[in-house]
Amino acid sequence: MDFRLHKSAPGAVAEAAADALIVIAGGDTPQALPDARIAALVRDALASGDFAFKPGRTLYLQRAAGVAAPRLVVAAAGGETAKAFKKALGAALGVLKELGARHVAVAASFKLETAHAEAAVLAASEARYVYRHTKPSAPKDGALARLTLLVADADAKAARKGLAQGEAVAAGVTLARELANRPGNHCTPSYLAQTVRGLGKEHDLEVKVLDRKDVEKLGMGAFLAVAQGSSEAPKFIVAHYRGAAKGVAPVVLVGKGITFDSGGISIKPSAEMDEMKFDMGGAASVIGTLRAIAELKPKLNLVCIVPACENLPSGTAIKPGDVVTSLSGQTIEILNTDAEGRLILCDALTYAERFEPAMVVDVATLTGACVVALGHHHSGLFTADDALAAQFGQAAADALDPCWRMPLDEEYDEGLKTNFADMANVGPRAGGAITAAMFLRRFTGKYRWAHLDIAGTAWKSGTAKGATGRPVGLLTHFVLAQAA
Ligand code: BES
Ligand code: MN
Ligand code: ZN
Repeated sequence: MDFRLHKSAPGAVAEAAADALIVIAGGDTPQALPDARIAALVRDALASGDFAFKPGRTLYLQRAAGVAAPRLVVAAAGGETAKAFKKALGAALGVLKELGARHVAVAASFKLETAHAEAAVLAASEARYVYRHTKPSAPKDGALARLTLLVADADAKAARKGLAQGEAVAAGVTLARELANRPGNHCTPSYLAQTVRGLGKEHDLEVKVLDRKDVEKLGMGAFLAVAQGSSEAPKFIVAHYRGAAKGVAPVVLVGKGITFDSGGISIKPSAEMDEMKFDMGGAASVIGTLRAIAELKPKLNLVCIVPACENLPSGTAIKPGDVVTSLSGQTIEILNTDAEGRLILCDALTYAERFEPAMVVDVATLTGACVVALGHHHSGLFTADDALAAQFGQAAADALDPCWRMPLDEEYDEGLKTNFADMANVGPRAGGAITAAMFLRRFTGKYRWAHLDIAGTAWKSGTAKGATGRPVGLLTHFVLAQAA
């Protein structure tokens, strides 16, 4: 899809040449609308009860008097923020979904800034995505091929930046969604590795993929313990984006890449087990972020690490009570084989030390407890570093991709103690998302660190079942903010 900018003089919005014109209303009076002709149409619709200035409401008119475009959609946003704008634009695009418009022009009753332009691209890209890899009969993506943002001359520069950023983030989100939506028998660890290698070729990134033998040699006993139950080859994927001088400490992203989580010997109930194909959502979002960053080329260094394998029960699988030695040398008693994410992540977190990172952020669909705590709106953010937490708060606001800080007090570490190893891989049921984070914390002493639990935000269940591509927006904004 193609995104453009058109400088539109105040009052000339109705003259925009497009198949459809979308006007986003931020306020609750027709006078504020960006064109007198459109204001008149809306005044009529208000009088007849066909429209109201309530967020979510839209007005669709065909061949409206005085409007050059054959279709007009007015959408109420109930505010002027990028968030309100994105929601209203999503509703307007929904109205046009089944119609024939190929080119839409979008205007608003308020000033469009960088964040609005970025939000426009994301809204359009989200609306257009259709999963078809294993369902070629799925309805074709709509006709929509071009979106033109109508902005005042003075706002063009900021909007242009937003469009570019939005296109990169949207491509990353779409990649993450597509990877996570593909079933476990398609999106294997090898397929993830192949995808990253492809990105490497396209964007000139260094990519290294370690096989079972390589990680055995390194001593990744925790990662290997999870991988040993499956005959599917595990892959430990490392990719470098280099946008700054060699000596500049990199940002390191680590993504949980369990391409299917059955629970292993501590097997999960059958209901909804299919959704555990999404258990590589952390990996997908790290790969999506790598794509976005490689396209935007900020002046910084980035390393992405994806430990990828399946978690299956078998004659070679780990058993409850088994003790393994992690890459860090610390021993782990595996009391529950379904707490596998932290086992593959802890070795990746130790591996990250070799890059002497400026900071490490891991991203994982780690705990059902996080879904209980935060539901499906906020990702869980865990860090002892107040400055990092503040940066994530800012990135979340900028990206419209929210996260919520959770506690990490020393007291929670108690639950991981055991008589048989340096730590157990599970604690008590209560506070399960926090003890999981405390487990990871034991491997992160050498650098600044934050952990995102995206178990509630990486995908949707029910009739709208599918990956969201979150938190690619959050991560991309966070990484961009680290540029010199
Ligand atoms: N991948 C799951 C977490 C998960 C469960 C995400 C449900 C989204 C929905 C993870 O590997 C897991 O199984 N965690 C266990 C940990 C427990 C055994 C301490 C969980 O949350 O039940
Ligand atoms: Mn599990
Ligand atoms: Zn898992």
